[in-house]
Amino acid sequence: MTKRKIEIKPASGKLGVLTPGMGAVATTFIAGVMAARKELALPIGSLTQMGTIRLGKRTEARNPHIKEFVPLAGMDNLVFGGWDVYEDNVYEAALEAKVLERGLVEALKPELEKIKPMKAVFDKNYVRNLDGTNVKTGATKMELAEQLMEDIRRFKAENNCDRLVMVWCASTEAYTESSGVHETLEAFEEGLRNNDPRIAPSMIYAYASLKMGVPFANGAPNLTCDIPAIVELAHKMRVPIGGKDFKTGQTLMKTIVAPGLHARALGVRGWFSSNILGNRDGAVLDAPENFKTKEVSKGNVLDGIFDANLQPELYGDIYHKIRINYYPPHGDNKESWDNIDIFGWLGYPMQIKINFLCRDSILAAPIVLDLALFMDLAQRAGLLGIQEWLSFYFKAPQTAPGLPPQHDIFKQLSKLENTLRYLMGEELITHLGMDYYEDLEKEYEALLQVNA
Ligand SMILES: NC(=O)c1ccc[n+]([C@@H]2O[C@H](COP(=O)([O-])OP(=O)(O)OC[C@H]3O[C@@H](n4cnc5c(N)ncnc54)[C@H](O)[C@@H]3O)[C@@H](O)[C@H]2O)c1
Repeated sequence: MTKRKIEIKPASGKLGVLTPGMGAVATTFIAGVMAARKELALPIGSLTQMGTIRLGKRTEARNPHIKEFVPLAGMDNLVFGGWDVYEDNVYEAALEAKVLERGLVEALKPELEKIKPMKAVFDKNYVRNLDGTNVKTGATKMELAEQLMEDIRRFKAENNCDRLVMVWCASTEAYTESSGVHETLEAFEEGLRNNDPRIAPSMIYAYASLKMGVPFANGAPNLTCDIPAIVELAHKMRVPIGGKDFKTGQTLMKTIVAPGLHARALGVRGWFSSNILGNRDGAVLDAPENFKTKEVSKGNVLDGIFDANLQPELYGDIYHKIRINYYPPHGDNKESWDNIDIFGWLGYPMQIKINFLCRDSILAAPIVLDLALFMDLAQRAGLLGIQEWLSFYFKAPQTAPGLPPQHDIFKQLSKLENTLRYLMGEELITHLGMDYYEDLEKEYEALLQVNA
């Protein structure tokens, strides 16, 4: 196996993490990093902070923490900023989101309240259930993009940042499909100048981010950086992009359970997924055009794992249904139910029921952290364009055109780990493990010769 050590620029200085959207996920992420820095709590769920990676042979027992293996920005070197349609600072927004206990938020108040959202690029046609006033005005969408670029420039200078990354943590936009204006960078820029209604706010942020050389990751199910024009810009500016839709809650469970069923060649007849949640995200998703965006992003996960064409006897007839219901009393504590109808030997049916009482933003916050740190690593390592090795974090991973995404979380993890090994010039791990037994055979042969 070839060893290749990539040249990676050092993670020196400060890394600014910019989030369009400073609601439940973004504030839980920011407050969480601050709490971890003060050793008030642990950054659990973050692979970059808590995860380990095996290197070399199993017998070598080399299992460093990922953050000690690859040169990542340290949590102490992160600074935070962002945009929101509401003026609440991060302290106020964290209290409003009610994800974290009040005591923890109060303990962090002086730092949190210093972070005030910049004015957002917002269009009610894309999110009709929100009414904010902290919104930019401009004659054209290009002008709005330029205002965002100016925000980025100012933030970087005022906070003395060495580098920046942007992670979309704003609301899910109404469903859109890629069309003419999204096809090329030229058409897209023309559309920005002509106020083309098919250009969503999230695309304007992605455009501004890449134009400033800032990596961009998309945590929502919007089209955003999935369009050819933005991919083209990422290549032109030599910047990493990735998306989409943080893999948390029910979809996380799905991509853990489904690969296991598939591994045992068990059949699946139906998978009914129902959710209730009561946060602002839930309120936005209550609008059918926004729900459609989420439904499409969640819906493809099973198709990628259970291939009806390859194994029609097992997966040719799956009925997959997803429901999300807005239920305010639950707040951010989403509850999901999955009913899975499976069948085994000779076609005998069985059922699995999963009732996950999760905390949406508690699962999403470490993903924001990991994406910020890994996107920055990718940038410093010269990886540009679509970062498929970060599929692990997404419900609908972005891939090269025509390449089917990998949804199985274990394969996604293996891809991520092998990418880190590749970057650092370590042997890739295939789990073949034949060498241990070849060694054993040699030992027995030697023994037989001695005894002969
Ligand atoms: N929480 C999760 O587990 C999870 C998982 C996957 C995806 N997501 C996605 O992450 C996003 C954030 O989720 P959340 O729970 O924090 O939602 P939230 O409603 O609490 O926060 C989103 C914030 O974005 C702001 N916003 C909307 N449009 C904006 C714009 N154009 N510019 C700037 N700000 C804008 C809203 O005012 C709001 O404060 C949503 O799109 C959600 O679907 C969340």
